[in-house]
Amino acid sequence: MSQQANQFHTVEVGDSTFTILKRYENLRPIGSGAQGFVCAAYDSITEQNVAIKKLSRPFQNVTHAKRAYREFVLMKYLVMELMDANLCQVIQMDLDHERMSYLLYQMLCGIKHLHSAGIIHRDLKPSNIVVKADCTLKILDFGLARTAGTSFMMTPYVVTRYYRAPEVILGMGYKENVDIWSVGCIMGEMIRGNVMFPGTDHIDQWNKIIEQLGTPSREFMQRLQPTVRNYVENRPRYNGYPFEKLFPDVLFPSDSREHSGLKASMARDLLCRMLVIDPERRISVDDALMHPYINVWYDQEEVNGPPPAQYDHSVDEREHSVEQWKELIYKEVIAYESLEQQQHNHVGNAMHNHSPACSSSASTSNDTSSGTTDSITNDSSVQPNHHR
Ligand SMILES: Nc1ncnc2c1ncn2[C@@H]1O[C@H](COP(=O)(O)OP(=O)(O)O)[C@@H](O)[C@H]1O
Ligand SMILES: [Mg+2]
Repeated sequence: MSQQANQFHTVEVGDSTFTILKRYENLRPIGSGAQGFVCAAYDSITEQNVAIKKLSRPFQNVTHAKRAYREFVLMKYLVMELMDANLCQVIQMDLDHERMSYLLYQMLCGIKHLHSAGIIHRDLKPSNIVVKADCTLKILDFGLARTAGTSFMMTPYVVTRYYRAPEVILGMGYKENVDIWSVGCIMGEMIRGNVMFPGTDHIDQWNKIIEQLGTPSREFMQRLQPTVRNYVENRPRYNGYPFEKLFPDVLFPSDSREHSGLKASMARDLLCRMLVIDPERRISVDDALMHPYINVWYDQEEVNGPPPAQYDHSVDEREHSVEQWKELIYKEVIAYESLEQQQHNHVGNAMHNHSPACSSSASTSNDTSSGTTDSITNDSSVQPNHHR
């Protein structure tokens, strides 16, 4: 026990106290989110910079405990590669077409990968996406649990709903391209510099959408549950605006000289296929990856990476007490440690079979040596540029 205790040190980081393995040095705060607090550190064993998440009060109630368990089981880590910024920060920058399309390409690859693990995210948002200066990108979470209805809410926190698709807001069925809507919102925000649909609640959110995109068709309305349909049909009718008005030329960076697809008209074409209220008419993930604004980066191996282990959805349905969740998390940690040990023993061998469901999957392309990244990195890093 005391021997184990010796491996740890306690440090104050911001308002938080971390008791952590001594291998992690030089802790400094970098972010906080719905669940906790993230700091950067140096891992003296691997000699790499890492990000470490501390869940705040994971056992305060059953919802938090379940979420902690889900996060741990899915992500398999609370320590990960250190990235440079989250996407909220990057959206504020004046990105050229190369960077913008490359970031979107990676989001789409990550989403496709999640889908291939049987996970449809439904709640992608910029604060849960992180990027490095070389424009590589990772998705940090796995979205809404399947059992989460639209009324699902983490108790004391205000959750961002701006990026949620109409079918989520309206409580309809959904399919993979529900995640395309979020990508469309993010892309639109990159171009405008403002949130596309900043609703204060579900109702206001829906208003913001129809004011800009127009009231959806009668045929769409017919697919709504009666009460929702009644509400939606009784809203004032809006025609919406053409995409040339929603995204005028002046908002775009200048056309790329290298890639003919990377120009304002193509970006707008992609936006008008993603920001479509009716999922039946919205572009699919595969087609978005083939779109001329995106497919300049298309790399067969990245797009069709080996599918990860299938996500066990029964996790979402389980009900336990806080004490039971604690026990389950403890068991996961022990299992993880012995797995690490095994991997250590047969270097890389066991690794592939047991690779955690999606831990590297939500991250797409860390391969900075691939040609795609190089061409975007050569003029230094993603630099903030505030002239919009
Ligand atoms: N690997 C990382 N590299 C850099 N920053 C990170 C990393 N992981 C998280 N962050 C920062 O911490 C914030 C919160 O992380 P997140 O995993 O979303 O926590 P939560 O689950 O509490 O929402 C992110 O928005 C980002 O700014
Ligand atoms: Mg978060």
